[in-house]
Amino acid sequence: MDSSPHEGGDPLVVKAAAILHDIGIHEAERKHGAGGGKHQEMEGPPIASQILERVGVDAERTGHVCRIVGSHHSGRGIDTPEFRVIWDADWLVNLFHEEPRPDPEALRKTVEQVFKTATGQELARLLASRDSRRPSA
Ligand SMILES: [Fe+2]
Repeated sequence: MDSSPHEGGDPLVVKAAAILHDIGIHEAERKHGAGGGKHQEMEGPPIASQILERVGVDAERTGHVCRIVGSHHSGRGIDTPEFRVIWDADWLVNLFHEEPRPDPEALRKTVEQVFKTATGQELARLLASRDSRRPSA
């Protein structure tokens, strides 16, 4: 996986956060009966921290990854280059798998509002233009 060559940030933090951002889903389902964003953000960081410690990632980077894992749905309290890359990547995956698909105008507005990096905006516009040419289900 190539990490954010255009958007900067620490590649290890970006890669670790990309792999671990949803790590809290199963624990959230087990503890709260729901694996939604709020519970993922609560349960993910301690699990991510244990994994990163086990593989020898330093405390500063572990803390950064855990802050990303703990905010990847709400976007609360963090605005680093690494977080912005993960935020946009997650939106790129989720936005274009939504069913029913948003209408083209709603999709255009969402793309303008949610993406935090130039690369994310560019990829989202490209996918939105392709999506608008797909036949509706
Ligand atoms: Fe998630």
